[in-house]
Amino acid sequence: MEIRLAGPDDDLPLEELRTTLDEESTFMLMEPGERAVPDSERPRLSYRVVAAEGERLVGFVSVSVMPYARVRHRGHVVMGVRASHTGRGVGRALLERAIAEARSRGLSRLELTVMTHNRRALALYTRCGFQVEGLRRASMIIGGDRVDEYYMGLLL
Ligand SMILES: CC(C)(COP(=O)(O)OP(=O)(O)OC[C@H]1O[C@@H](n2cnc3c(N)ncnc32)[C@H](O)[C@@H]1OP(=O)(O)O)[C@@H](O)C(=O)NCCC(=O)NCCS
Repeated sequence: MEIRLAGPDDDLPLEELRTTLDEESTFMLMEPGERAVPDSERPRLSYRVVAAEGERLVGFVSVSVMPYARVRHRGHVVMGVRASHTGRGVGRALLERAIAEARSRGLSRLELTVMTHNRRALALYTRCGFQVEGLRRASMIIGGDRVDEYYMGLLL
């Protein structure tokens, strides 16, 4: 046996290996047969919520949902509000709308990551019911400095 970097010639054999693993093990992301489904036939479950002032958007939440049976109950949240509009309740309103939408779509979990020193975002997420579930150490490098992030989750 040889342990080596995979190259382009490994693409097809790798796909075969992963398909086999999907069948052999329940510890992988996909269920047996699910890998073969064309992307065009997979459900589109992600959604976005925006805050608009006329034509101009001032804030958004995006909720990304992977279309696989084992994880399609959970959404990954990313959000942001223009600096000119922060501290006025826009983030709270956006996130509450996104959470209500998640419930109405039958999602049972939302999750996100946030830099540990982002006090405003942490306050918002905690107020909306998210709990810290873990720490991603040195998960970002900003201006040469290592920055930690929290994993946060909300069960619906
Ligand atoms: C984080 C962000 C989304 C929050 O949105 P926002 O519109 O500013 O937040 P809100 O005005 O709705 O305030 C939400 C909560 O944050 C808290 N908060 C507001 N300003 C704060 C500040 N300067 N420091 C600490 N907490 C603060 C308040 O407790 C508020 O809770 P309340 O509604 O119970 O009073 C927004 O500031 C933003 O986009 N920042 C830059 C990008 C960013 O950090 N994105 C998130 C990445 S994880």
